[in-house]
Amino acid sequence: MAEPSYFLVLLLFFCSLFLKSQSFDFVYNGFNGSDLVLDGYARIKDKALKLTDRSQNVIGHAFFPKPIPMFKNSSLDVSTFSTHFVFQIVPSDANRGGYGFAFILSPSTQLFGAQGGHYLGVLNPSNDGKSSNHLFIVEFDTVTGYNETSDRYGNHIGINVNGMNSIASESASYYKGTQKKEDVDLEEKEPIQAWIDYDGLAKQVNVTVSPLSVSKPIKPLISIFIDLSPVMKDYMYAGFSAATGEKKASSHYILGWSLKLNGFSDPLDVSQFSPIPAEQSSSSQNKLKRALIVTFSVVLFILLLALLSIFVYRKVMKFDVLEDWELDCPHRFRYKDLHVATRGFKESEIIGVGGFGTVYKGVLRATGAEVAVKKIISNDTLKGTREFAAEIESLGRLRHKHLVNLQGWCKNKSNLLLVYDYVPNGSLHSLLYSSKKGTVLSWEQRFNIIKGIASGLLYLHEEWEKVVIHRDVKSSNVLIDRNMNARLGDFGLARLYDHGQNSHTTNVVGTIGYIAPELTRTGKASKSTDVFAYGILLLEVACGRTPVVYQPDRNVILVDRILDCLQMSNIFDAVDPKLNSTYTIEEMELVLGLGLLCSHRKPEARPTMRQVIRYLNRDEILPVFDNLNSFGSKRADQIRSRFKALGLTDDSIITTSSIHSSSVGEMSSSSFEITGR
Ligand SMILES: *[C@@H]1O[C@H](CO)[C@@H](O)[C@H](O)[C@H]1NC(C)=O
Ligand SMILES: *[C@@H]1O[C@H](CO)[C@@H](O)[C@H](O)[C@H]1NC(C)=O
Ligand SMILES: *[C@@H]1O[C@H](CO)[C@@H](O)[C@H](O)[C@H]1NC(C)=O
Ligand SMILES: *[C@@H]1O[C@H](CO)[C@@H](O)[C@H](O)[C@H]1NC(C)=O
Repeated sequence: MAEPSYFLVLLLFFCSLFLKSQSFDFVYNGFNGSDLVLDGYARIKDKALKLTDRSQNVIGHAFFPKPIPMFKNSSLDVSTFSTHFVFQIVPSDANRGGYGFAFILSPSTQLFGAQGGHYLGVLNPSNDGKSSNHLFIVEFDTVTGYNETSDRYGNHIGINVNGMNSIASESASYYKGTQKKEDVDLEEKEPIQAWIDYDGLAKQVNVTVSPLSVSKPIKPLISIFIDLSPVMKDYMYAGFSAATGEKKASSHYILGWSLKLNGFSDPLDVSQFSPIPAEQSSSSQNKLKRALIVTFSVVLFILLLALLSIFVYRKVMKFDVLEDWELDCPHRFRYKDLHVATRGFKESEIIGVGGFGTVYKGVLRATGAEVAVKKIISNDTLKGTREFAAEIESLGRLRHKHLVNLQGWCKNKSNLLLVYDYVPNGSLHSLLYSSKKGTVLSWEQRFNIIKGIASGLLYLHEEWEKVVIHRDVKSSNVLIDRNMNARLGDFGLARLYDHGQNSHTTNVVGTIGYIAPELTRTGKASKSTDVFAYGILLLEVACGRTPVVYQPDRNVILVDRILDCLQMSNIFDAVDPKLNSTYTIEEMELVLGLGLLCSHRKPEARPTMRQVIRYLNRDEILPVFDNLNSFGSKRADQIRSRFKALGLTDDSIITTSSIHSSSVGEMSSSSFEITGR
């Protein structure tokens, strides 16, 4: 009688042994990284299992290392199992968290070809939904969109088999009691717990979530009947998968996890859970670091770019760095163009060197026009002021056939470049004193030149909108064009040159021999001082001699010589011998007389340019010397009386040698700073 009971006890014992061998459970109250199978981003951090961080498009997997025997021996039914875990999702910012994580039972710890985003790192478009996957998935998805009809909620939990399409899904929430539902925000910055329970006999899956502070709700969120036996293989690995996506990324943490076959999972010891790592701060530090690095490199890059472009700009434009106001100057040339035109200011292109600077011949590439470029090395007074530019601009508007027209200008560092018409035959000075044969200017040409200069000067003095004082009338400033017409150059330049200087340091600008006596005293140039210089020029043209001939013993003043001739013998003795006496007596007489009158010591005695032209055209008879020839040998007192007739009462002027030479005497004294040739 006792034996059967003995056998029963033995059977029960073996049965219990057998059942014990079927038991399978584990509890992680925090992770220490020793045993889980990790893959992708997944790692253990501060006792938490971190599946992904907040980088875009990352995947993380973590599996319990031992496979779970899903079927009881000889049973066709999947064993009852339950699992309980605590998770936390930390989105990258308020709106952009994603995509989520999933609890999975998988035949392998390797999920080949798994994609992120909506596939949560579990599947990919080609294997999604295939029964050969043998996957049981409970997704905790924070993004709407894989299947708009079934996965309706961004913040939802779904039960899937073999694919990402949920068999059942619910917005994350829990029941208080049996009716009242409380929402659970999966991305809430506090831990959430979840339970997944499968009843192998009833073939029922229950999924429940609640905040960590709330104990397991009685009513599960999702409860469906499903037979997992076709899904499960004999041995399955339990684990988690998480993924982030494009723009949407969260850190996914599992803080604790337990699983049990054939029974409810052991309750987790919440007190052992460490708070999740200081994600916010560390990540924001990283973010800050990254932002700083990015900002720094961007700034550096922009700075380099700016430097480079300035460098290139300077290189290309040479020194054409303009001040704003220079842009409204129509006569302004670009330095680059002038540089090209004069072949880099080559020495071989020099056509003249004068007091103000060097003159280069140039050909403007744009128009092919020949120009003369005068390069003036300035002193400080040339510093680019608006007024200065205005002055040149205004000179640029002067146009007359007997002027060398100023086409434009350019300011470059301390250089001023003036661009003039190119006049081919050189200066009157060079033609008068040329030693070359056959280049002697005929009287006809000379008389024409004299008239031309007068016409140009009249234009400057009276015919333009403003009075322009030339200040440096002389033979080397008269250029002769193709038709042997005179063209007066360098007008107004002297004024530019001493522009802005204080009156007490005035430079007398002009050329020795052409400077009116009062100019050396007052320093004030006027129309009358121009007329004086013109008078000297007339005498120079008639006599073919420079105003002052420098000789070792005694400098010969041209005017003195003429007056000597006048007194001693015949004024025509002073005439340029190169003319070979081929000239019109009346014209010569007129020119000599007018020359003397214009270069009169007294400014009041000098005619205006308009009068000069009337005399030259014989519209008016020169009053004093109407019959000069007839008293060529007469005495000085006769001349004196003639001058008196003009109303010039100062007796001293009649002393012939002092009429003009006194001025020269003053000029050569060093009491005045004389600028120029
Ligand atoms: C890691 O955790 C497991 C399970 O909780 C435990 O058995 C093991 O001793 C721990 N190892 C360390 C180094 O803490
Ligand atoms: C379990 O089943 C296998 C065959 O499926 C068998 O070999 C084994 O002996 C069984 N174990 C028990 C304890 O019944
Ligand atoms: C979306 O869900 C519906 C209903 O469950 C299903 O019929 C459909 O096939 C799903 N679409 C995709 C693309 O999985
Ligand atoms: C699932 O939930 C239902 C309804 O609350 C309950 O009757 C059943 O016992 C649960 N099953 C498991 C395995 O928790």
